[in-house]
Amino acid sequence: MFNHNVFNTTNRFRYNFIHACRRSIQTKAVKRPPLGFAFDIDGVLMGGLEPLPKARNALRILNGDNPLKIKIPYILLTNGGGHTEYERAHKLSSRLDVQISPSQIVQAHTILKDYVDQYADKAILCLGGNGDTMRRVAESYGFRKAYTTTDVLAWNSSIWPFIQVSESELAFAKPVDFSRTPISAIFVFHDPRNWGVDVQIMCDVLQSGGLLEGPYIDKAQRKNNIKVVFCNPDLLWKSDFPRPRLGQGAFKASFQAVYKTLTGSEYPYVQFGKPTKATYDYASGTLHNLLDVSYGPGELPQMYMIGDNPESDIAGANAAGWSSVLVYTGVYDPTTGPPTNIPTHETRDVEEAVK
Ligand code: G3P
Ligand code: MG
Repeated sequence: MFNHNVFNTTNRFRYNFIHACRRSIQTKAVKRPPLGFAFDIDGVLMGGLEPLPKARNALRILNGDNPLKIKIPYILLTNGGGHTEYERAHKLSSRLDVQISPSQIVQAHTILKDYVDQYADKAILCLGGNGDTMRRVAESYGFRKAYTTTDVLAWNSSIWPFIQVSESELAFAKPVDFSRTPISAIFVFHDPRNWGVDVQIMCDVLQSGGLLEGPYIDKAQRKNNIKVVFCNPDLLWKSDFPRPRLGQGAFKASFQAVYKTLTGSEYPYVQFGKPTKATYDYASGTLHNLLDVSYGPGELPQMYMIGDNPESDIAGANAAGWSSVLVYTGVYDPTTGPPTNIPTHETRDVEEAVK
C-alpha cells in the first residue's frame, strides 16, 4: 500500500537535502576570500611599456589558477597616471592578457574625484601628462573648467618665451582669456613634461592670487587660498631605463625651491599618492566595494601590497596595517643594503610574491 506520509516524508527529506546541498555549494562557491592584493604597476607588473617577465603568471594565479581554486580579489594601486581608469584598465588588460576592470584601478589622480563637488564649476589648472590628456581625465571625473598649461601658452606664449607652441598642441588648446579667469586650484595630476613652463605658470598664478597677468599680491597680504595638490610624491621611479628616473616628487622639489627663492617661503600644498594615508584609505575602500559587490557586505580581508619602492609601497602598506612584499624588479636594489622601510616579505619578483 503506497504510504503518502512516507512519500511525503521522503520528498520533504529529499527537498531539504537538495536545498541544503545547494545552500552549502552556494556558500562554498561564494565564500568571501580571506585575502586581497594591491599591486604596484611600475617596477612590479610593468617595466616601461612592457610587462615584466612574471607579471602574467602572478595575475593568472589570482584569477583562479591557485590551490584554493578561487578568484582572489586585487586592485592595481599606482602612483602613475595619465589616462582615465577605463583607458588604463584597457591597456593593461591587453598587455597582461588578463581582464582588469576600471574599478580595480587606483591611479595617483583617481582620488581627485573627491574634489569634484568643490571645484566642478571653478577654473582649475591640471598639470602633467601629454597634450590635453589631463583635461580629458579631469572632465571624465566631472571638473567642467579644467585648463592645461598649453591653454595658457596658446593664450599668451610670451608667458614662457623659450618655447614655440606647436600646431598640433594648438589644435587641442582651449581658447580662454586667463586675464579674466581666476584659477581656484592647481592639481598636479601626473608627471609634468615641461618643468620650466609649469613652474613659471604655477609661480604666476600663486603670486597673483589666481589671475594670470594680474598684479602680484604683496607677500604680507597673500592669503595662499589657491589649493595646490600633488598626486604623486615619488622622487624616483623605475621605467625601462637601467637606473630609476626622476618622478613628480622631484618636480615638486624644483617648484618649491624656485617659489621659496622668489617669495621667501614654500607654498602650502596637499599631498596624495602612496605612502599617504588618504591614498591607502581610498585603496581600501576601492577593494572593499569590489568585494561587497561580489560577496555582499563584509570585512576587508588581510591585505597584501606588492611593491618595488620602500618609500611609497612598503611605507604606506605598513602604516595601513597591511602585509607588504618588496620585489627586486624595480626601484629597490638589494645590493645597496636594507630598505628604508622594512617589508613583511622580500621576493625576487611578483610571481614569487603571490605564491
Ligand atoms: O610616475 C609613476 C611612478 O612614480 C611610480 O608608479 O606604479 O610604481 O607606483 P608606480
Ligand atoms: Mg613601482
